[in-house]
Amino acid sequence: MNSATEVLILGSGAAGLSAALHLAGSGHRVTVVSKSTLASGSTLWAQGGISAVLDHNDSLEAHVQDTLVAGAGLCDEHAVRFTVARGPECIRWLIDQGVAFTHEGDEPNGLGLHLTREGGHSHRRVVHAADATGRVVETTLAGLVAAHPNIKVLEQNVAIDLVTDRGARRVLGAYLLDRKTGRIAAVPAKAVILATGGANQVYLYSSNPFGASGDGIAMAWRAGCRVANMEFMQFHPTCLYHGEARSFLISEALRGEGATLHAPNPDGSVGERFMPRFDERGELAPRDIVARAIDHEMKRLGVKHVWLDISHRPAEFVRGHFPSIYEHCLKLGIDITRQPIPVVPSAHFTCGGVLTDLRARTDVAGLYAAGEVACTGLHGANRLASNSLLECLAFAKAAATDLLEQLPHLPEPPPLKPWDESRVSDSDEDVVVSHNWLELRTFMWDYVGIVRTSKRLLRAHHRVDLLKREIIEFYRNYRVTHHLIELRNLVTVAELIVRSALERRESRGLHHTLDYPQTDAIAKPTVLAP
Ligand code: FAD
Ligand code: SIN
Repeated sequence: MNSATEVLILGSGAAGLSAALHLAGSGHRVTVVSKSTLASGSTLWAQGGISAVLDHNDSLEAHVQDTLVAGAGLCDEHAVRFTVARGPECIRWLIDQGVAFTHEGDEPNGLGLHLTREGGHSHRRVVHAADATGRVVETTLAGLVAAHPNIKVLEQNVAIDLVTDRGARRVLGAYLLDRKTGRIAAVPAKAVILATGGANQVYLYSSNPFGASGDGIAMAWRAGCRVANMEFMQFHPTCLYHGEARSFLISEALRGEGATLHAPNPDGSVGERFMPRFDERGELAPRDIVARAIDHEMKRLGVKHVWLDISHRPAEFVRGHFPSIYEHCLKLGIDITRQPIPVVPSAHFTCGGVLTDLRARTDVAGLYAAGEVACTGLHGANRLASNSLLECLAFAKAAATDLLEQLPHLPEPPPLKPWDESRVSDSDEDVVVSHNWLELRTFMWDYVGIVRTSKRLLRAHHRVDLLKREIIEFYRNYRVTHHLIELRNLVTVAELIVRSALERRESRGLHHTLDYPQTDAIAKPTVLAP
């Protein structure tokens, strides 16, 4: 373990890797921690792309307005303007790092990039690498991080908790569980950046990889940070429905390129195109509206999925723009150039998170949060498609910029107290962890989903309470494991989501409740303090 680390970065998605490269490039010693491999997290799976104003016919103002409209009146306009303004420079920075985006010579953006379109965007402004943007970004940045002499990489290490000096309210480091050895190290650092991603595995069905267990949100909460807007969990409208699986995303870019949504006929064939009945923007309405419309149609017709159809576009175009989706579906027997795709909504993105300012600072001194773990105010009540990777890049840079000024003045952290393992023994009831995990994710899906009621939220609250007590007791008595750490964090995040949802007595964006269908004139964020 390198005790000389200045900045400990927890997480190695777009936010963590780009923060590391900015800091290390200025000569600082950084440690990047991933509980899985270095190239991991939701970033690796991102498909559609990164929004940025590059087309000469587009404007920053149009991107700002689209973000505000999608956010249903709850965005922090300063955060929106701050992020949108940084779009073009973030894309240029990625290109400088070697990220190979899809080009098309005659595109009117000066860089020759092909720009696609997604829901809620009034212009083509999504920069992409075919339909595997995240993989290209993540693997390129991970390669640079792995080779950088100022960066130490700790893979298969799970951060359990932050260490703080409660009096000074300063972060001092973190406890990390090495999954290979089972040993727990206390790692001191002058500053810590949380870049641990979202919490979407709190739901039974999610487009996210398994590690999306809200660890950073729960750790920050325990360390004394405020958390905001946790009721706004985004459900992506179109995940592939195959068997019971709903984890493979069918990018919104398909709808951007003309795919339409249809209800199934009684015999299962492709029926009415229903989105125009719900919104004049049709399939390109913001995500909350499309997901709710699909949910409505599925319940109305008693069907398990709806159809997404792009078969009217030339087969060569579909294969060229969506090669990964084409191949994945073909392996499952669906030729998307000729057949419709069965789709359902699935939990996708955490709009809320650890409250930060425009420097990515949290409430605890020396602790920063960037990427999906944070609530910067950009997304409000519903995220605009492809604004997340942009947020990761813009706020990772903001954190690094602030730290470059702060680091020379920050004190060396003291040696940390070793992890106390004296009271714990190995559990012979690991099955409890997997049962609790399933129970939690099932009732969150059933009671805290796309359409909510107060009765269901209270039911969920009651169950979260019971589970939390059981999990905490388990956590206190037995040796911590990777899955127990995640379960403990998931139950905390579930509690934050349910509490926030109960506090909001209106429907806005992603929070839709039958008991309060109105949208209040004044929009207020939900801020919870520990
Ligand atoms: P992540 O990329 O999720 O990385 C989290 C990292 O933290 C991982 O390295 C993980 O190992 C690590 N970690 C977590 N907990 C711990 C812990 N306790 N200890 C140590 N390490 C930990 N957004 C867009 O803007 N455009 C898109 O096209 C797009 N498509 C998407 C498609 C899919 C299928 C998904 C799931 C998401 C998509 N999103 C998209 C959302 C976007 O990908 C994510 O919001 C974004 O990548 C989050 O990046 P991040 O750096 O914050 O976290
Ligand atoms: C997609 O490609 O549909 C995902 C885009 C996003 O989540 O921003």
